[in-house]
Amino acid sequence: MISTFKKEQSLLARIWLWLGRVLGKVLLIALVIGLFGWAIATAWFAWHHRGPVSALEQVPPGEAAMTQDVIQTAVRIVDQHREGTRYLRDAHAKAHGCVKAQVQVLPELAQPLRQGVFSEPGKTWQAMIRLSNGNAYPQFDSLRDARGMAIKLLDVSGKQLLGNRQSQPEQDFVMFSHPNFFVSDVAEYRQNVSAQADGKKVMAFFPGWDPRTWQVRHLFIALATLSPPPDSPTATTYFSVSPYKFGEANAKFRVAPAPDNCPDYTLPKQNHDLPNFLRSALNQQLSTDRIPACFVLQIQRQDANKYMPIEDTSIEWREQDSPFETVARITLPPQDFDTPALNLACDNLSFNPWFGLEAHRPIGGINRLRKAVYEAVSDYRHSQNAAQ
Ligand code: HEM
Repeated sequence: MISTFKKEQSLLARIWLWLGRVLGKVLLIALVIGLFGWAIATAWFAWHHRGPVSALEQVPPGEAAMTQDVIQTAVRIVDQHREGTRYLRDAHAKAHGCVKAQVQVLPELAQPLRQGVFSEPGKTWQAMIRLSNGNAYPQFDSLRDARGMAIKLLDVSGKQLLGNRQSQPEQDFVMFSHPNFFVSDVAEYRQNVSAQADGKKVMAFFPGWDPRTWQVRHLFIALATLSPPPDSPTATTYFSVSPYKFGEANAKFRVAPAPDNCPDYTLPKQNHDLPNFLRSALNQQLSTDRIPACFVLQIQRQDANKYMPIEDTSIEWREQDSPFETVARITLPPQDFDTPALNLACDNLSFNPWFGLEAHRPIGGINRLRKAVYEAVSDYRHSQNAAQ
């Protein structure tokens, strides 16, 4: 009896050992395959993403027709998200506030950086800045999202890019808080956004069964773009994402906090459970505590020998390939921006990367798309709101 029991026990132990060995081998093989796949993918990525690149725009066929499709989807989103009687922006619908600002061109700016609105060292521009959440519908600030900053320099002299804007001499800089975009070009944007508007979120990045159409890297960019909130809209960096002319050169730009240019200030702890705590934080600093906020505006020039493409917004231009250079300082002076009249005026403003000068012309597919879409959506929401 005892010996039968012992035999069963040793059989069980052998089975367990065998299972353990099999499992160990399977795990080892999976690890080797994973590492091999990762090495191949990294090599493939490096091979495809290497310079030199074109310094010129390259317009693919069919872009104009795709743009018309995107306009229709964007207007559909505005209709879906209208709040009560008011029509909101298709993107960045929720503002934390529109604030007055001064943008001063660096007094000691180097000659090659004196372009467009930065031509005159030391000049101070009066500006409006709208700070926002990226989502198409206003939501709690604590939710993961992109944060937007749109700057409008006022009374800019020189011919405006858009024929119908000559009586509004402005230069806009439109940015959000991530360095690259979740799509490469107009074709991909059209397919992605139309899937999202139809509520088919998975289809946005996995449009078919063919693995070659899967946009895994772009899905990760989208997830990284939706990041936790900063403590205040004055405490994060905003990127142009897409490229622009900078005189004869091509460049991206960004706006980064520069607290050293302002008096010392520590924002009192905000209650992140409140739906609009980013507005409260801005209000606390500028209106209650009367402390200015400071940023720097920086330019990253394209080196076409490096992988710094014009036509693919999913590619972040690496700082080791071309560093950011400060061209201006931005100051948000103490002010009372959070009043019903100023908030309505803020909602009625339009920012558009195409409001500006030839020296800062937006370039690349995503910017060409934005030219038509911003104008169409802005006209649509303004006309609907005026008709109320
Ligand atoms: C390069 C990447 C992009 C950045 C950095 C960006 C950033 C922004 C920001 C900050 C705003 C809010 C402007 C404000 O405060 O009034 C905005 C609005 C808007 N964006 Fe974008 N965006 C990008 C790409 C796009 C694309 C590809 C489209 C669609 C084709 C688009 C469509 C819009 C629209 C329709 C508005 C609202 C315009 C209005 O009604 O005034 N954006 N964007």
